[in-house]
Amino acid sequence: STSLAPVIEGNAYKRDAWTNTPPSILAKLPRKLHQQEHHPISILRNLIESHFQEFEAIAPASAIVTTHMNFDELGFPADHPGRSLTDSYYLNQTHMLRTHTSAHEVETFRAGHDKWLLSADVYRRDEIDASHYPVFHQMEGARVWTQDQLKDLQALNAKMAEQLAACPLVIEDISISSESNPYQPQHDPEFAKEIAQNLKHSLNSMIFRLFGQLKAKSTEEEPLRVRWIEAFFPFTTPSYEVEVFWNGEWLEILGCGVVMQKTLNNAGVPEKLGWAFGLGLERIAMILFSIPDIRLFWSEDARFLRQFKEGQITTFKPYSKYPPCYKDLSFWLPQERNPKEGKGAKAAGGGMTGALAFHENDFCEIVRDVAGDLIESVTLVNNLVHSVNCVNGGMTQNLLHSFRRLTTSQTKRQEDKVNVID
Ligand code: PHE
Repeated sequence: STSLAPVIEGNAYKRDAWTNTPPSILAKLPRKLHQQEHHPISILRNLIESHFQEFEAIAPASAIVTTHMNFDELGFPADHPGRSLTDSYYLNQTHMLRTHTSAHEVETFRAGHDKWLLSADVYRRDEIDASHYPVFHQMEGARVWTQDQLKDLQALNAKMAEQLAACPLVIEDISISSESNPYQPQHDPEFAKEIAQNLKHSLNSMIFRLFGQLKAKSTEEEPLRVRWIEAFFPFTTPSYEVEVFWNGEWLEILGCGVVMQKTLNNAGVPEKLGWAFGLGLERIAMILFSIPDIRLFWSEDARFLRQFKEGQITTFKPYSKYPPCYKDLSFWLPQERNPKEGKGAKAAGGGMTGALAFHENDFCEIVRDVAGDLIESVTLVNNLVHSVNCVNGGMTQNLLHSFRRLTTSQTKRQEDKVNVID
């Protein structure tokens, strides 16, 4: 293999036997969909950030992390399958594209942040289909307390539980801890329980805000169902996964748990304890915005991008997989006297238009007759009435010329109204 060092974001990475990141993946690094204004991933990030009011929003500088940050520091064992070349993208043996936002946990805790949200693009080698893409976006959230601050937690939790009880939300819960999902031996179980309880209340209320309130239509028939299940992560215990019942299916949307004390010790804050979660933004955005294919998020087509507005959850409208094709047509029509003109009759369409024998609706009808629904729209762009002086046999005549321009836009095949990107 060559030892040519590719330069990425201004740094050189020496190739070795681990190098397996193709240029097509590296090309995604500058895209930052989670920061692209009016993009559904960014809209969702903003909505979650505004829900977690007192939390700081953090954006890590680069998707390139050390394998130490991504795995070792978080307690991943040496033989964890996530480390394999078939699962992750490596620049070389020591540097890789982060596979999760948890790669930034230790540095964020080390910087002293206690309540934070961190959003970023993450990379995992995967098949590509309507729900899988090797690049996606996660949001990590964490909250830590000193032993002293934990004393107020019980009262805060009681208040949050009360607020949640008033929401039409069906929570299928599990016990906070079990033999297979234990508290950490160095934690006072009373404190660990309050931390886990706070994690659950915080996430349930965020989920209710997104699915129950913002996507209000879904709650009309039946309340939203959320299910907590036991999970395992090397950097949390007890750990949980949260699933939402959507279109007849349980969908996993996040993983979370009480932060392993070792992680906080590694970060130089052994006096703190708390919780962390990591959620997949695409999954949630696909449900909220009714986006049928994960590949659409990467679209640069205005027909996708212009559908979304900051702060709003709207329903995605499918469009043709073919690019739009515009036909510009111009007509010249001689002026004809409207017999009713001047007798108080209102001209159809207003002004001079009424004096013409041909209205744009006549043209629309011809288009529909010929092409049917292949035509998306017919629009009158311009309508000019032009006066010209003509010399004819020594006599000056005033002639009126009318010029009409009509545009038909986007021929479309009805059966192709699916969003398959090929
Ligand atoms: N990083 C985990 C994942 O990608 C999610 C997670 C984050 C779990 C934080 C626990 C705590 O699956």
